[in-house]
Amino acid sequence: MSATIIDGKASAAKLREKIAAYAAELKAAHGLQPGLATVLVGNDPASEVYVRNKGKTAEALGFRSVHIALPADTPQNELLATVRQLSADKTVHGILVQLPLPKHLDEAAVLDALDPAKDVDALTPTNAGLLLSGRAHLVSCTPAGVMLLLQEYVGDIAGKEVLVIGRSLLFGKPAAQLLLAANATVTMAHSRSKDLPMLARRADILVAAIGKPGFVKADWIKPGAVVIDVGINRIDAGDGKTRLVGDVDYDAAKEVAGAITPVPGGVGAMTIVCLMQNTLIAACAQNNLPLPTGL
Ligand code: GUN
Repeated sequence: MSATIIDGKASAAKLREKIAAYAAELKAAHGLQPGLATVLVGNDPASEVYVRNKGKTAEALGFRSVHIALPADTPQNELLATVRQLSADKTVHGILVQLPLPKHLDEAAVLDALDPAKDVDALTPTNAGLLLSGRAHLVSCTPAGVMLLLQEYVGDIAGKEVLVIGRSLLFGKPAAQLLLAANATVTMAHSRSKDLPMLARRADILVAAIGKPGFVKADWIKPGAVVIDVGINRIDAGDGKTRLVGDVDYDAAKEVAGAITPVPGGVGAMTIVCLMQNTLIAACAQNNLPLPTGL
């Protein structure tokens, strides 16, 4: 039997509606317009697309959107000055510095210059630490999106065996914390893990965030398992065009899994909306307004 296809686009659209309504209320009741600043250094085409979509979504939701494009050879001190300036700007409530940065720039120093209250990616040590302590209100966008999809399609995940493949600051580490907080039994795997297929076959929920097209094979999947594909890989489609694929060998995997996220239209669709949710939360927190609940 073929898997249920987890429709990230539909879930994202529902959340988007709620955020738009809340933002309109915030403007009417308090004259507050959430502001999101995006910073892109260099001209990586994929990053340009992501950042443009973030700005467009912010505007569509009635947020203020500021985009700062810096050349690839921007010196460290100039990037730090930009981030500090945005951190001090009262009309900007969320700041996103698109990663990865060009090699000559020090990512940790950039995150240290970012006001944690405006860190809508939740990448600063303050927000990572709050998540570890179970006290986060800004949660990394892609892991937050995955949790929403699991809530909708699985429900209670207490006691479930979850394997997360990938240990990045952007996804694997925060995802593991959220899954643990939801009482799952979490295993973290990565490029040095031994016998990934064996680890994967134990998983009721298999989360792949490795960045290698089609890396997870159908025979690694426990029949009926839920497969969450976080990968976004651009591959040659053979006709002079490119296409997006995930980290899972989707066509074969969907014949074994119980439910699976497609790429595109799965996890990726949730990420941007969760970024908007974080911007809304950050705007409320910075203005001493109650945080939106039940979005
Ligand atoms: N690069 C890829 N995904 C992301 C993301 O969610 N946030 C940032 N800042 N950079 C990214």
